[in-house]
Amino acid sequence: MLTLPKVMKREIITTKDGSKTIHLSDWQENYHSHHGAVQEALHVFIKSGLDNKARENSSVSILEVGFGTGLNAILTYAHALKGDLHIRYEGVEAYPVELDEINELAYAELKEVAEYSEVYHVLHSSEWEQRVSITPEFELLKRKVMLAEYTPEAGVFDLVYFDAFGPRVQPELWEASIFEMLYNAMRPGAILVTYCAKGQVRRDLIAVGFYVEKIPGPPGKREMLRATK
Ligand SMILES: C[S@@+](CC[C@H](N)C(=O)[O-])C[C@H]1O[C@@H](n2cnc3c(N)ncnc32)[C@H](O)[C@@H]1O
Repeated sequence: MLTLPKVMKREIITTKDGSKTIHLSDWQENYHSHHGAVQEALHVFIKSGLDNKARENSSVSILEVGFGTGLNAILTYAHALKGDLHIRYEGVEAYPVELDEINELAYAELKEVAEYSEVYHVLHSSEWEQRVSITPEFELLKRKVMLAEYTPEAGVFDLVYFDAFGPRVQPELWEASIFEMLYNAMRPGAILVTYCAKGQVRRDLIAVGFYVEKIPGPPGKREMLRATK
């Protein structure tokens, strides 16, 4: 289970909203929902996460667990421009996506991204482990590290996009010790959103101290979780 990396067979597939994702056949797992990669990202992370925080403050500090294809990051950027937000974005990723995969996914051509296609490429070409001002509105720090070895600063994040592979294939990323580390990295009132609505995940989040809500999920999925510190 712990040997995800590049040795696994990776295939680009098209999801039901027409956007693409990466499929790992060994795990029968996708990077995004097969019901629609963009739809899922917009619903789970932007609408259920960023929109909430943006109502409180125009400056939002975000941690993404599983930076992957950068889809959540570029959709966040697009949203920040529309909403006049300033974003500090930190992405944790143990196995960066390859450039040829980024090209094949063609996210830069999506209607939500096309206007910002250059920025999307800069997100990927920017150095790991360095905080970079991609634009005046968007600071990025990509951390190439295993989540279990990641040691964030305490109390700095307003919002966590928890976008790991599911607990079926990577249960070690959904343990209470991981949620505790994230809880400590968040400010009081900060929220964590995830597409997963499993009972055990909900109970572990509650045990760590979060207030947890089951809220409507993206198309094809009844529920998702939002946890507030
Ligand atoms: C469900 S995918 C989502 C990726 C991303 N949010 C996106 O929209 O493309 C999960 C991501 O977590 C990364 N990952 C897997 N195991 C990890 C670990 N132990 N530590 C950090 N990242 C990990 C994978 O490489 C993958 O990019």
